[in-house]
Amino acid sequence: MIRRVTVDDLDLYREVRLRALQDSPSAFGSTYSNELARPREQWAERVSRAATGTSWAVFLAFEEEACVGLAGCVDDDLGADRQLVSMWVAPSHRGTGVAAGLVDAVLSWAHGVGARTIALWVTKDNERAMRFYERAGFAVTGDVQPLPSDPCKDEIRMIREL
Ligand SMILES: CC(C)(COP(=O)(O)OP(=O)(O)OC[C@H]1O[C@@H](n2cnc3c(N)ncnc32)[C@H](O)[C@@H]1OP(=O)(O)O)[C@@H](O)C(=O)NCCC(=O)NCCS
Repeated sequence: MIRRVTVDDLDLYREVRLRALQDSPSAFGSTYSNELARPREQWAERVSRAATGTSWAVFLAFEEEACVGLAGCVDDDLGADRQLVSMWVAPSHRGTGVAAGLVDAVLSWAHGVGARTIALWVTKDNERAMRFYERAGFAVTGDVQPLPSDPCKDEIRMIREL
């Protein structure tokens, strides 16, 4: 089951996001220690933005009671209508279709709020994620920037139409 976060998911959202950062430190722009230090009020503000409105959204994937994946959608700062962020599936659930379900949820929500293009950044050596995104219809744009959480690595931009 995949659903958008609600304002009651603050603790769950924080726990899953921290689990993702601990599991895949090179996959994201932020770091586990940065997010761990983030005050509770900021998590509350984030979850409130992610749960309501048309600018941001965060989706959680569940198997029975357990949360096994996360994906977010935020405003893009380089000209796409939205950006796919925070994409993570628990190792136990990779290769099962959970990731595709999360992307479908994000794309469908973004389309519903009027977006026509969605972009993302993926670390250059993350071949599994790149392959996954290509299969989901994203194409490399040619834009490259240093990974904010580890500027020794590059991340590349991908985009697709909705
Ligand atoms: C990225 C992620 C969400 C994709 O979900 P997933 O369930 O692993 O994706 P899938 O298994 O459906 O697809 C992965 C594809 O890569 C392929 N693959 C697996 N390992 C690979 C590797 N080492 N190199 C290249 N391709 C690989 C798979 O065969 C599959 O391709 P196919 O469908 O053509 O067979 C998940 O791997 C994840 O959470 N990774 C850690 C966090 C992360 O990297 N997030 C991305 C942030 S931008």
